[in-house]
Formats: sequence, structure tokens, C-alpha cells
Amino acid sequence: MRQLLGLLILLLGLSAAQAQDVDPNRMPPHLDPARTANGLAPTPPMGWNSWNRFGCDIDETIVRRTADALVESGMRDAGYIHVIVDDCWQGPRLADGSITADPQRFPSGMRALADHIHARGLRFGLYSDAGRLTCGGRPGSQGHEYQDARTYAAWGVDYLKYDWCHTGTRNAEEAYALMADALRATGRDIILSICEWGNNQPWLWAQKIGNLWRTTGDIFDAWEGVDRHRIGVMNIVDRNEPLWPYAGPGHWNDPDMLEVGNGGMTNDEYRAHFGLWAMMAAPLIAGNDISAMDDDTSAILLNREVIAVDQDPLGVQGRRVWRDGGRELWVKPLAGGARALLLLNRGEAPARIAATWEQLGYPAHLRGRIRDLWAHRDLPPASGRFEAEVAPHAAVMVTVRP
Ligand code: GLA
Repeated sequence: MRQLLGLLILLLGLSAAQAQDVDPNRMPPHLDPARTANGLAPTPPMGWNSWNRFGCDIDETIVRRTADALVESGMRDAGYIHVIVDDCWQGPRLADGSITADPQRFPSGMRALADHIHARGLRFGLYSDAGRLTCGGRPGSQGHEYQDARTYAAWGVDYLKYDWCHTGTRNAEEAYALMADALRATGRDIILSICEWGNNQPWLWAQKIGNLWRTTGDIFDAWEGVDRHRIGVMNIVDRNEPLWPYAGPGHWNDPDMLEVGNGGMTNDEYRAHFGLWAMMAAPLIAGNDISAMDDDTSAILLNREVIAVDQDPLGVQGRRVWRDGGRELWVKPLAGGARALLLLNRGEAPARIAATWEQLGYPAHLRGRIRDLWAHRDLPPASGRFEAEVAPHAAVMVTVRP
């Protein structure tokens, strides 16, 4: 009886300790933030991927032009270092099973493309699939994992996005672990981007397998809406937000690539999209035509103050701490005790939104320095609360520093 009582007290103590640990500043106790797949991606990966803008209509001219534009626009220096060629680069497999590049689209070959990219201080990413075929119907890597990993390493690949079409009844954890092992065996540092759309809850098993994992179906360039294949920005946000405890250095939730600059949303909406991705410590993979950006687009993608929130070394995914109808408050703890704060108005009319220091995890008397990250200016210091008027389909983003 006394033993039973002892056990009960122990269990009660443990659950109280766990409840206390649900704190925006800390990782939940069952997740060790130091565990990573391969020591890569201590902050969310940044770069460009061909898919959102070019789809299957991709070739080496576009990729070279984009690499050059990343340098000229200042995006490389702002952190966008990965140049990732998505689906449809593949040609046939040779008789020995090795994969080739499509000779019409990539006549100079992948090694030459990698050299062009590396010569500009950028890194080279490729796409494959854990099934027999990719989503675009090109050869997938199933049954060729080690062979493909060796080919990628020989080409100079630094990043692999690994998709999930045509996988039949394959076990996802096994399939991704196999490719992770194959990449490791090459001895080259290759970031692994898991892309099974959240179907098998990779946040529960992929921490030591991949560096990022998609949490939803494919994004499309719209504020909201869901169809059979694609999902709008607000809907993605709602699915990615609750997964905040699973993100950390080396292993990130991936709510899909950016649509900023692709023309389907207003600049306010794009700023909210970009700001929310930064709050969620999401990979910042631009998906527009970098060589033909307008000034509004580059001002969004090159906002270094917002990028710094995304890339903050603490590596905690921000979360929604309050919502009322279309008004929301998001908080992300930053290294050194500061907070990023995002006031989101999803509604159709301007709205006043206020955050209390309690919602930020600060004592009410604390005096905070406030910095507006879109206006790039300091606001008057505040105690106890911060509030602002937010335009429809827009977000105000500030940092609060004690
Ligand atoms: C899937 C992925 C996309 C893209 C396409 C390519 O839909 O989720 O991001 O890679 O395949 O076919």
C-alpha cells in the first residue's frame, strides 16, 4: 500500500514537472534539441527552388540565371544560399542503373551546373523521390538509393529534397532512413529535405533522419483555400502551428516553399506570409523568378530584420498565443531573452490588436524596446503591452527587447 502511494506521488510529481515545462522558451522535455540527423542546418535552410514558379518547365539556363541573380540581388549575402532544382531534371537510367540528367534540358550536365553554382558561393540542391517514379513521372530512387546518393555526391550536390509519389505501401520512416544512410555513406554533407506532406507524421520520427520535413500538402499562391492537391497560406499556417514543439536546430517543420513574388497575393499578404514563415522558423526557400523580381518583392525577401527572426540561433518555432476571430497574436522567443511578436489580421476590415507582456512571458513592469521590422524603425519603449492597427490580410511585426 505504501509502495503504491509512493508510486502515485512520483507520477503526480512527474506530470506536474511536465506541465511546468510547457513554456515558450523551452523545448518539451521529451525532445532533445541537440539531436540532429547529420549536424547540418543549425538554422532553417534558406535558398531558392524551381518548382513554385517553373514547375516541370525547368532547364540549366534558368538555373544558371537564377544563381547569378541570387548574387546580384544580394539574396545570397542575406542567406539564400541553396539553389535547388526540383522535379523534371532527370533523364533515363543507364544500363547499369545510374541516373542521368535530361539531355535536352541540362545538356552541360549536372557537374557543370554544380560548378557554376559553387563558383558563386552557393550550394546545389536536387530533387528525387522514394518511389519508382517522381511526382512528375521521372525515374525515382526506389531500389537505387545508394547508387543515386553516390551520383549526387560526385556531382557536388549539397541538398536533397526527397518526395513521396508512387511509393505504394512503402514504410515512410524506413524509406527516408535508407536514403539518409545512403547520403551519410557518401561522406559528403548533404541536407535531407523530407517531402511526404505530413502524411506519416514525420515530426514524430524524423529528427535523426532529415533536416526538415514538409508538414502539409503543396502550397499555392493564395491567401486561403484548399483543393484536392493544394492549400492556401492561412490553411498551411493553421496546420503547421501546432507542431511547434517538434522543431529545433537541425530538424525543422517545413510549411512549404515561399510564394512571395509569384503574383497571386497582395504585398500585404506576401509580407504576412513571409513574416509568419519567419515566426515559425520555417525554411525560407524562395519560389519566384529571382532574375525578374520587382522592388516590392525584393524588399520582402531581403528584409534582414525578418530573416534574423527566422534564423535566430535559439531555434524555437514561434506559436500563436491568442486568437479572436480573425485577429491573432504570435510570439517567438529569441536568443538573449527578446521576443518577436506578430499581430495578424486575417479579416476583411482594419483591426486594432493588442499584446500584453503576460502573453509574451514577461512581467508587466518590464520596459521593452520596440522595433518595427517592416518600417525599419524604433517605436517608443513600452511597458505592459503593445498594440497596433493592422490592415486587412496583413501583419505587423516587431521585436520586444527587455
Ligand atoms: C510534390 C511536392 C512538390 C514538388 C512536386 C514535383 O507535389 O510536394 O513540392 O516537388 O511534387 O513534382
